[in-house]
Amino acid sequence: MNGLYHLGELPTAAVEALAARALALRAGAQPQRFDGRALGLLFFSPSLRTQASFQRAAGLLGLDLVQLQAGAGGVWGIETEEGAVMDGANAEHVREAAAVLGRFVDVLAVRAFPKGQNRAEDERDPMLAGFRRFAGVPVINMESSRWHPCQALADWSTLDMLGVHKRAKFVLTWAWHPKALPQAVPNSTLTMAAQRGMEVVVHRPRGFELAQDVMEEARALAARSGGSVVESDDRGCLDGAQVIYAKSWGSLAHYGDAAAEAGARGPFRSWCVDSTWMARARPDARFMHCLPVRRNVVVADEVIDSQASVVIDQAENRLHAQTALLEAVLSGAGRPESPASTAGREKSPGRPIRDPSSAMEMKR
Ligand code: CP
Repeated sequence: MNGLYHLGELPTAAVEALAARALALRAGAQPQRFDGRALGLLFFSPSLRTQASFQRAAGLLGLDLVQLQAGAGGVWGIETEEGAVMDGANAEHVREAAAVLGRFVDVLAVRAFPKGQNRAEDERDPMLAGFRRFAGVPVINMESSRWHPCQALADWSTLDMLGVHKRAKFVLTWAWHPKALPQAVPNSTLTMAAQRGMEVVVHRPRGFELAQDVMEEARALAARSGGSVVESDDRGCLDGAQVIYAKSWGSLAHYGDAAAEAGARGPFRSWCVDSTWMARARPDARFMHCLPVRRNVVVADEVIDSQASVVIDQAENRLHAQTALLEAVLSGAGRPESPASTAGREKSPGRPIRDPSSAMEMKR
């Protein structure tokens, strides 16, 4: 497979195979070795889990690691706009930055959150798009404006590990938060559960709907997998849930307008997952969150510290899922690359791809 931008782009059988391999690795299977090859990690945004789990996965696979952090004292500011007159803060264009890094590593992983000012621009995911186009090696999305596929893959494997039935009721619930957070995690959580074939409910206040095209994609994935997707602002939709997955996100209706967005969020301060929410779910229900999470804001201590909470297993499974993903990318496993997926990508003439077959920045 040639990198990973969005989990929903993979055939369901490929996701199932990656999740199964992740659980085999968790159970003690030996990772493949790729000694002499290299992984690049490029962070334009903060991270704890993603950084640590990719570093550890590189060690398990015998990969050399090139890790770069953008910002003060880090890499140069990178321009993504085509034809830009670069007389501002950015010293380097993604055309050169991606192509150069692609000469040093065999697979490149990039994290770049949205700027939170212009929705259309953010939804183009310009940094990920630039690296995918110009790196000349497979690129893995470590969380962009739109998607967090590594989290979604780990969450899929966690659901499998816990024996959560494919058709079980999965409630993705919005929660209040002091900041307007990006949509990548809820987008990927929704489409993951839909692709897994679950009975998915998006529980959110009016005004906090997810993007229409993401909802449509989730419904299409669910239709193919035998699942369903509905939305509700009624707390009663938690009744009978097998999984309550909490996440906050900003209102798209007020994108880029922090004051208006904060005003829209204000009335929903009580949207915090506590024991009264869990009491509506099945007695064996699970609480999930991608972390980091604000205790007693998004979720009450009594829930995150309870037997229902699987947040630490979710985080551990990031390591196993990404180890499985890197194995697949570096060994050329998975689906052959379609002409559509390579359209517009500019390959390095000097170093062919090894696998030809194949105002929100303060997240959390
Ligand atoms: N869930 C997740 O991606 O965590 P980090 O932002 O800490 O990497």
